[in-house]
Amino acid sequence: MAGLVTVFGGSGFVGRYVVRLLAARGWRVRVVVRDSRRALYLKTAGDLGQVVLMPGTLSDAASVARAVAGADAVINLVGILAERGKRTFERVHAEGARVIATAARAAGVKHLVHMSALGADAQSPSAYARSKAAGEAAVRAAFPGVVTFRPSVVFGTEDGFFNRFGQLAQISPVLPFFTNIVPHAPGGGGTQFQPVYVGDVAEAIVRSLEGEGHEGATYELGGPRVYTMRDVLELVNRESMRHRWVKGFPFIIGHVTAAILEAIYSVRDLALRVLTIPSELLPDPPLTRDQMRLLELGNVLTGGRPGLSAFGIEPTSPDVIAPSYLKRFRPVQQNKKLRLAARDS
Ligand SMILES: NC(=O)c1ccc[n+]([C@@H]2O[C@H](COP(=O)([O-])OP(=O)(O)OC[C@H]3O[C@@H](n4cnc5c(N)ncnc54)[C@H](OP(=O)(O)O)[C@@H]3O)[C@@H](O)[C@H]2O)c1
Repeated sequence: MAGLVTVFGGSGFVGRYVVRLLAARGWRVRVVVRDSRRALYLKTAGDLGQVVLMPGTLSDAASVARAVAGADAVINLVGILAERGKRTFERVHAEGARVIATAARAAGVKHLVHMSALGADAQSPSAYARSKAAGEAAVRAAFPGVVTFRPSVVFGTEDGFFNRFGQLAQISPVLPFFTNIVPHAPGGGGTQFQPVYVGDVAEAIVRSLEGEGHEGATYELGGPRVYTMRDVLELVNRESMRHRWVKGFPFIIGHVTAAILEAIYSVRDLALRVLTIPSELLPDPPLTRDQMRLLELGNVLTGGRPGLSAFGIEPTSPDVIAPSYLKRFRPVQQNKKLRLAARDS
């Protein structure tokens, strides 16, 4: 039964797929946005008036209450990858999630979906993973029937994963990864991931609203196989036709690089503040010390929770999807050569 669903974080990477799928399944979708100009493209995700943008922010509980009023379901896809000023993991992943769950409960919403992350753990050395665990606990306390998703790294046309390495391949002669084992020894391929396709994640979320028996469950979402960081970089290398040097470095080099990058970016933010120029729209550091801690932990399914198969979804492989969007990182003449070869064959 499709009804009215309120989506927080609908303007993000996963959000655009979820909003589009909800609209296609007949839901009326209310997307809560901080800046409606940046999310205008979502209005064409459905029929006229089916997708509505509503101003709101997690720090304003009254705006959250207005956004969930009358909704049959609420989906929280809000998340950040790096902390900056007042925008901390704790505020966004834990406090923000609690505000949404409390408002949803008070409004009598039937279904709440909460997006966490694989590796969410109150004891984790990573502040990101600890805040995701705190968010899960806060949401469950406020709304016991919440359906929680913990995806591994999510990939798709607009992702921040394969695309990031594609961009790097355009400018750098080396594609680095980090490992504590000799790079060519068994297990020396660096961090392990189980990349999951964004379309599969969106499908699972929407099916959790439509199907029976998901209340209170936590799902781990991963793709069909485990990739080491070296596998990922070799895929990027192959599809971008850049032939870069894929090279393993000890983790300590990554930690030091991340510390230097964070220092440079905080000086930039400080300078902008002195000049009273807003820094929020500028990018976060490309690597942080907390992300390095996550990289050391790896990101594969534990096998202890149900996953995509609980929704009857066959996971899509990065080998099938990623080439279609990694093409854009090829040298121009390579794409031209391939077009000419296809025309002449
Ligand atoms: N992508 C992955 O590989 C991955 C893996 C595991 C878990 N996840 C989780 O999946 C969810 C969606 O991820 P994503 O990749 O779609 O992230 P994304 O593209 O960065 O989108 C994040 C969304 O959160 C909103 N947001 C961020 N801070 C906010 C705040 N303080 N108040 C209100 N809204 C805020 C953003 O809105 P604005 O447009 O206004 O900034 C945006 O709509 C997140 O919870 C993330 O942690 C993602």
